[in-house]
Order: sequence, then structure tokens, then C-alpha cells
Amino acid sequence: MVSKKMQDALNAHVTSELYSANLYLAMSAYCDAKAYKGFGRWLRVQYFEELDHSHKMLDYLVSRGGTAAVGAVKAPPRTFGSILDLFQAVLDHERDVSQSIDELYRTAAAEKDTAAQVFLQWFVSEQVEEEANVQEIVDKLKLIGDKSSAALYLDKEYGKRQRAAG
Ligand SMILES: [Fe+2]
Ligand SMILES: [Fe+2]
Repeated sequence: MVSKKMQDALNAHVTSELYSANLYLAMSAYCDAKAYKGFGRWLRVQYFEELDHSHKMLDYLVSRGGTAAVGAVKAPPRTFGSILDLFQAVLDHERDVSQSIDELYRTAAAEKDTAAQVFLQWFVSEQVEEEANVQEIVDKLKLIGDKSSAALYLDKEYGKRQRAAG
């Protein structure tokens, strides 16, 4: 069984993953409109990953006898500045999400919920990977500065991202 406190925390995080999904969907459309179709595709894949995260957490909650309560998702911004500004915003957002996952983990520990701690380890590792991936994009964009040909090369490379199976 899952405690009320753990259930509330997991439900809140499901809503937060849905916000991440919508944020990346909005960013994807913004990139597409700026002719950065590759980054647009990369962000669209990320959108699906965030949806997967929300489903994974919801499925876990239900499997532990919890009650799902999907909350309202606030609207993401509509504009994101330069492509570097946009990916810096992705990095800042993922750092916030990592803190939120850490908080969930601490709640699981405080509730003496071993199953939740084991379950949340996947999310802790996923956040390490996501932060590293986005940090790399930010670093590369900083490196190329205002060289548009290099930006278009990166756009093409990151556009090769495929949605993971499952
Ligand atoms: Fe996520
Ligand atoms: Fe994420």
C-alpha cells in the first residue's frame, strides 16, 4: 500500500511531468517555426519521453493501490528567445525537476516506503542523463556562438533523434 502523503506527492509529480511534456511541445513548435526543424524534432521526442514518465508514475501509483488524481496543467510560455536561451531554459527546468524527484525520494524514505524508493531510483538516474544531454547541447551552442552554419549543422545532427521503443 501507498501512504496518503506518498500518493499526494506522486500525483503532484505526474502533473509536473505533464507540464514538462507541454513545455517541450511548445518549444518544439517554436523551433519548427524558426526553421530549426531538427531541434524541433529532438524536443518532440522529449515531449513523448515526458509523457512516458507521467504514465510510468501513474501506473506505479495504481499498482500500489493508490488513487490517481491528475491535476490541472498550467500553460507553458509561447516564446523562448534564441535557440541558446531555449536550451538554457530546458536545462534550468530539468534541474528543477531533478530537485523535485530528490524531494519525492526523501518523502519515500521518510514514509519508510522501500518500494517507492526503489521505483524512484529509475527517475533519479533518468534525471542525471537528461541534465547531461541538455548540458551538452547548451555547451555546443555556446561554443558556436553566432555562426549560423554551425547552428544548422547541430540542428541536423540533433534532428536524428528517434523515439525509444516501448
Ligand atoms: Fe520527466
Ligand atoms: Fe525531463
